[in-house]
Amino acid sequence: MTDTLTSPAWAQPHTDLTGSTVVVVGGAGGVGEGVVRALLAAGATVVATSRSAGRLDEFARRIDDPQLHVRELDLLDPALTEEASTLATEFGGLHGVVISVADWGRQGRKPLLELSDPEWEDQLRQNQTTVFRAYRAFVPLLGSDGMILQLNGLSADLPFPMAAAVAAGSAATKSLTRTLAVELDGQGPRIYELILGFVRTRPRQLAGVDDPNWIPATDVGVHIAEVAAGTSPLAGHTVHYFTDQASGPSAG
Ligand SMILES: NC(=O)c1ccc[n+]([C@@H]2O[C@H](COP(=O)([O-])OP(=O)(O)OC[C@H]3O[C@@H](n4cnc5c(N)ncnc54)[C@H](OP(=O)(O)O)[C@@H]3O)[C@@H](O)[C@H]2O)c1
Repeated sequence: MTDTLTSPAWAQPHTDLTGSTVVVVGGAGGVGEGVVRALLAAGATVVATSRSAGRLDEFARRIDDPQLHVRELDLLDPALTEEASTLATEFGGLHGVVISVADWGRQGRKPLLELSDPEWEDQLRQNQTTVFRAYRAFVPLLGSDGMILQLNGLSADLPFPMAAAVAAGSAATKSLTRTLAVELDGQGPRIYELILGFVRTRPRQLAGVDDPNWIPATDVGVHIAEVAAGTSPLAGHTVHYFTDQASGPSAG
């Protein structure tokens, strides 16, 4: 398993998030778990969310860290804005939010022209509306020293045959993030888009799918912790790429 935290060669020497609360939406997911672990290691209080109470129970038991809190949250819930506000109040303010959300849909791999209307609409809601609603709910809760970061894949930039709706969501949410950063123009929290190559995650490993050349999920988290703390040399850039395990993240 890759869930022990070893510091990558490119990591900064001191990342201290003590006293900061970071919400990881989709924190019980594959990449989310690595992000949660790295944020905890940096001293943050972490709120990991999932739509499933059972998944959160198992996750909290497995991570077993007093700084970890788990909460049910669905980005498509009509009451999302109120729920986000309640979270911020409960934790005395939020320093950061990480959106680690993806949904491949039930249609499986399919050519674009064979997607039905319901399959298209479902993908639109799951991979685009979710991110829009997360920004609308959480950005107003974050201070100017805070940050919100969306995780994305390379299909934000590249064709993704047989997964057109997923790719459309990736490209659209990259656009949302960049536009939001320009609209805020430094007047709100820092806004980030982190585009990833293949990541080594626990669910993948449990399914027997692994490659030592892929990026450990905790390395993704180490970068995000540095961005949240403002110690990353990339903290002034909106778009980051992390596609090569050895060289680490770079500005887009
Ligand atoms: N794995 C990779 O190699 C890889 C590569 C490139 C980019 N990424 C990016 O990394 C991020 C996470 O991917 P992953 O591989 O970790 O996938 P994952 O294990 O399937 O996790 C995705 C998470 O999205 C959450 N989610 C889905 N719909 C949601 C909704 N309506 N409201 C709230 N949460 C919702 C799910 O939470 P619950 O089901 O628990 O509610 C799940 O934990 C995605 O942005 C993906 O594009 C991953």
